[in-house]
Amino acid sequence: MKYHIITFGCQMNVSDSERIAGVLEGINFKKTSNINEANLIAVTMCSVRQSAVDRVHGLVQKFKKLNPKIKTILTGCILEKDRKKFINSFDYVIDIKDIKKLPEILKISPTRQAQKLRDNVIFAHSNYLDITPKYSNEFSAAVPIMTGCNNFCSYCVVPYTRGREVSRQAKEIISEIKILSKKNYKEIWLLGQNVNSYKDGKTNFPKLLKMANNIPGDFKLCFITSHPKDFSDELIKTMKNCKKLSKRLNLPIQSGDDEILKKMNRPYTVAQYKALVKKIRKAIPDISLSTDIIVGFPGETKKQFQNTVKTLKEIGFDMAFVNKYSPRAGTAASKMKDNVPWAEKKRREKILIELVNEPR
Ligand code: 5AD
Ligand code: SF4
Repeated sequence: MKYHIITFGCQMNVSDSERIAGVLEGINFKKTSNINEANLIAVTMCSVRQSAVDRVHGLVQKFKKLNPKIKTILTGCILEKDRKKFINSFDYVIDIKDIKKLPEILKISPTRQAQKLRDNVIFAHSNYLDITPKYSNEFSAAVPIMTGCNNFCSYCVVPYTRGREVSRQAKEIISEIKILSKKNYKEIWLLGQNVNSYKDGKTNFPKLLKMANNIPGDFKLCFITSHPKDFSDELIKTMKNCKKLSKRLNLPIQSGDDEILKKMNRPYTVAQYKALVKKIRKAIPDISLSTDIIVGFPGETKKQFQNTVKTLKEIGFDMAFVNKYSPRAGTAASKMKDNVPWAEKKRREKILIELVNEPR
């Protein structure tokens, strides 16, 4: 029996797909990159932007044309309203926290699973991060250290699709890194929606980094993503002192306008963000800084957008991931009027992309 996995979205989803692969291989499925020879297809979806959800709808049409006997699984970041839609087009719609139960779920007939989901019978969630993954790359590996988010940025779907923050046990994380180091991995990514709020008893994120840094081996440690509000002095000091830590840092600013940041429920001002960057650059002068930005948030005026342009110029990021605002059902921002036309969002996106690509 062969399986094929299609992954959308961020590194967290790539890592989730590696855990799904781990479970499937445990029940003797073999991976295939050829969708036509698969008996089972798993899709790890992303709901951060509507465009990614639309791509899953597109895939469903493609599956229908393949062998009708193929079993299809949908998991990943799924919004409740989409879950209800997708149970009619996928055989199994599975909460990511239930993938450990996949061998049992696959024994249930698809119609019964769909019925259970319609009746809102929730399967027993378990700690899926301790599943032994099947890594997809031989050089770089991702280790999830936590899942979920408690921040409720007003535009973001993650607290609804992945639930509240749960940190993985430090000793489990460290033993996964040790195995990767022994396998000669050169780059190890620690993943979480907000790694700075990692906590396992007395171990906070800087302590976890120090423990990982002390593991013997020739590898670089990277992490993603950080929220500026929790970027502590202890973390800066740790980054400076730990030799294995990569000099790349992603620190999402999201907007360069204080009013918009407030509406986004991002509890910092542009001045505070800039002061943080100054502190980081002073401690680690060769840091390479990237950021995430959303253009066309509800009510974003041309002047407010200009504030973002100005902020970006002042900070001089090495890279920026620019996203056009996409309203997500259930979030606080989805109740605000999405009044920046799509063409204007595209125009603002283009300006920022050109700006960060300009040689400095
Ligand atoms: N619309 C557009 N971009 C979004 N992001 C998160 N939610 C949305 C949304 N509703 C972006 C943010 C985040 C990145 C992962 O995706 O910039 O940092
Ligand atoms: Fe979403 Fe904000 Fe949590 Fe990041 S910190 S996952 S943007 S709610």
